[in-house]
Amino acid sequence: MNQKLEETRSILKKYGQEHLLNHYDALSEENQKKLLNQIETVDFELVETLYNSTKKEEKNTEDKITPIDYLDKYKLNGQYKYYENLGKKAIKEGKLAAVTMAGGQGTRLGHNAPKGTYDIGLDSHKSLFELLSDNLKEEGKKYGVTVPWFIMTSKENNKTTQEFFEKHKYFGYQKNKNLFFFIQSELPMVDTEGKILIGEDGLIKQAADGHGGIYEALVKNGMTKKMKEMGVKWVFIGGVDNCLVKMVDPVLMGIAIDKSVTVACKSVVKANPKEKVGVFCKRNGKPNVIEYSEITDEMAEAIDENGELLYGESHILCNLFSVEAIERMGETPLPYHIAYKKASYLDKDGKLVVPDSPNAYKFEAFLFDAFGAVDEMAVLRVKREEEFAPVKNADSAGVDCPKTARELYKKFYHLN
Ligand code: UD1
Repeated sequence: MNQKLEETRSILKKYGQEHLLNHYDALSEENQKKLLNQIETVDFELVETLYNSTKKEEKNTEDKITPIDYLDKYKLNGQYKYYENLGKKAIKEGKLAAVTMAGGQGTRLGHNAPKGTYDIGLDSHKSLFELLSDNLKEEGKKYGVTVPWFIMTSKENNKTTQEFFEKHKYFGYQKNKNLFFFIQSELPMVDTEGKILIGEDGLIKQAADGHGGIYEALVKNGMTKKMKEMGVKWVFIGGVDNCLVKMVDPVLMGIAIDKSVTVACKSVVKANPKEKVGVFCKRNGKPNVIEYSEITDEMAEAIDENGELLYGESHILCNLFSVEAIERMGETPLPYHIAYKKASYLDKDGKLVVPDSPNAYKFEAFLFDAFGAVDEMAVLRVKREEEFAPVKNADSAGVDCPKTARELYKKFYHLN
C-alpha cells in the first residue's frame, strides 16, 4: 500500500493536486482505498485542460449558425400514413427501445431527490417516473410489444432511484429483462485555482458529466450490446422532466427509416424569443442545437418570410437514434461546457465549507453536441400541447413548473 501511496503522491505532484491526500490519514481504510482508486482513474490532463478553458474568452464565436429544415407532423398530408405505417411495422417487430436520462437532481425544483421521483400534484400523486412508464406501457400495448426501458442514473442518485423503482414494483416492468439501469460517468469539480475539490467524505468531489455522457455510458455499460441482442435498431432518448413525453412515435420512426437518417428529433415552436429552450440549427453546416444561454437577442428574434421565428424549432430532448449512431457517438469525445456552481468541500484543515455563492466549476457535455457527427438528421415539429410539459422550476417561477405541467397533463388526458 505504501508503494501505491508514494506512486499516487508523485502523480498528484505532477498535476499540482497534492492536497488530495491531505486528509488521507484521517480516512477509514475503506475510504483510503477508494481515494487511491479514484485518483488512479481521474484523467488529470483532461481536468487541467478543462480548468484552463474556464479562463478563456467566449469560444465558438466564429461558428457559422444557420437555420435548419424541418417537417411539420401535421402538414405531412398523404405522407403521414406512409411514415406511420413504416414506423408501426418496426415497433411491432420490437425494433424500438426507450432511454430516460435521469442523472439530474431536482435542485431547481427544490426537490432533494432524483427528479423522476417528483410528484407533480395530480390526484393520483404519480411520480414523473410513473407517468412516463404509464405512457410507455400504453403505447407498447397498441403494437403488442413491451418497449424495453433503459434508465440512466448518476452515481449520486442511482441507489435512491433503484430503491424507488423497487418500492413501486418497477411499475410493472421486469428489472434486467425489459428494464435496465446504467450509471453515467463523473468528472471532478475544481475550484477557481484549478484545485480538485475534496468532498465531505474525504474523497474527490465529482459531478455527473452532463447528459452528453449518455452515448459513452450506453456503450461502456454494455447497453447497446444488449439492445442489439434484443433486436433493437432504434433508441428514443428523452429527459425525465417532461411529463408529456411521447417515447413511442411511429411517424418519427417512419421518417427516420424512410429518409435513411440515423438521428431524428422532435421540436415544438418556441413560445417566444426569450423561452429558455435550446433551438435546432446548423453549426458550420452540421445539425446542432444553440442553447438559450448562447443565442444572441438578434438571432432569437429574427423572423422568416412567413413571420415565424427563424430559430424557432425548440429542442425538447425527444431524440431518436439508430443503435449504430449511438455507438459512433460514444467513441467521439464531446466538448465540455462550464457551469459555475456552489459546492461544499473540505478545506485544508479538514473543515467543511458550505459556500453561499458559486465557488467551483462543473464540466458537462451536452447530448446535442454529438449531432454534428451526422451529416443529416430529421427534425419533426410536433404540437407543444401534446408533447411538451417540462417540470424545471418551483411554482414560484410561474413557467415550466409543477403547476403548468399539471395543467397541460390534465388537459391532454382530459382529467378534471
Ligand atoms: C434542456 C436542454 C435544452 C432543452 C430543454 C428542454 C440542455 C443543456 N439543455 O435544458 O436544450 O430545450 O432541456 O426541456 O440539456 N441529465 C442527466 N445527467 C446530467 C445532466 C442532465 O441525466 O448530467 C438529464 C436530466 O435528468 C433531465 C435532462 O437531462 O432529464 C435535462 O437536463 P437539464 O439540466 O434539466 O436541462 P435544461 O437546462 O433544463
